[in-house]
Amino acid sequence: MRLSRRIEGITGGGSDGWDLFYRARVMKAAGEAVLELTVGEHDWTTPRPILDAMHAAATAGQTGYAVVPGLCALREAVAARVAQRTGVATAPENVLITPGGQAGLFAAHMAVCDPGDRALHLDPYYATYPGTIRAAGAVPVAVETRPDDGFQPRAADLGAAATGARSLLVNTPNNPTGAVYSRDTLEGVAEVARAHDLWLISDEVYDTHVWEGTHLSPRALPGMAERTLVVGSLSKSHAMTGSRLGWVVGPEEAIARMIDLATVTTYGVPTFIQQAALAALGQPALEREGAAVFRRRRDLATRVLEGREGLRLLPAQGAMYVLLDVRATRLSGEGFAHALLDAHRIAVMPGESFGQAAAGHVRVALTVADDRLEAALETLARFAAARAAEAA
Ligand SMILES: Cc1ncc(COP(=O)(O)O)c(C=O)c1O
Repeated sequence: MRLSRRIEGITGGGSDGWDLFYRARVMKAAGEAVLELTVGEHDWTTPRPILDAMHAAATAGQTGYAVVPGLCALREAVAARVAQRTGVATAPENVLITPGGQAGLFAAHMAVCDPGDRALHLDPYYATYPGTIRAAGAVPVAVETRPDDGFQPRAADLGAAATGARSLLVNTPNNPTGAVYSRDTLEGVAEVARAHDLWLISDEVYDTHVWEGTHLSPRALPGMAERTLVVGSLSKSHAMTGSRLGWVVGPEEAIARMIDLATVTTYGVPTFIQQAALAALGQPALEREGAAVFRRRRDLATRVLEGREGLRLLPAQGAMYVLLDVRATRLSGEGFAHALLDAHRIAVMPGESFGQAAAGHVRVALTVADDRLEAALETLARFAAARAAEAA
């Protein structure tokens, strides 16, 4: 039977960019000792106080259907958090609780794009972006950012692509580049959004993971609150990737329409997960402790990798990865990642998995214990140096 063009078109055809990851998983399943530095997932589980709150809510009977937009108390807590961090007045009616940031990204595009609309996103990008846009019926248009600019988007490039577009998706702190967008960058982004009447979809799921500079939410810039949908999540901040708890913050009318969408898709997030989220947001020390681990590992990676032959470490200002330029080896990111996996059983993500602008790079997730990470980075650096020497 024929399936819909919409669902068949989600991947856009071709490779989904995860070949290296699947290969590493197959090797692991066959008993090989592969060190995975691929996915953005913590090497610890959700903190105990959050799990206790989840368990207490479930055993107290909160296992029925959830209120679709989210518990009032949780919407209030997210609104208060956003208002406190950004200075922008935010009410519970500006908040929709979603099953993770990913569902928020989809809901946001569904809310603002009509079928066939051009939806801009930046390259390199988080792997699901083009598929999310296509699933919403829109047409993804990638706007390149450049290694020499520290992957900060140029307003002129955005402006050139913006004519006739409906939305622009940005992500700071950025996965995979580790860039934290500067105020100048975001003012340029906001200027383009205002000039071309674009919706700005701002993916801020790493807003607690900032090592250099400060996180600025573009919703806080003049004239932006009315045209910005912010996507947030507890996945990265609280090691809650499996709980699927995120949100969208935006104008009340847009949130109301997204509640209609949630009613016919997710039907809300389980109440015991929402209670766990409330507990998580009530204990700021938990997110500080989680972020501190990645900050420490970022420093470790900088110490091991800076100034090494055969690779260039891009300044990781935030998130939970480092991006390495390995073009001196004359290998593509894919070639480098597969060769490293073959030679040393270390799995890193090829830059090409995140778009063409990251070709010739690899992304290393800082998601194993410090001693293992240090040893792996040392091996990777020696490997890059040897390959670069051969290529010279
Ligand atoms: C940039 C970015 N946005 C969104 C997500 C999705 O996060 P969630 O687990 O909240 O759906 C991720 C996950 O890795 C991400 O890196």
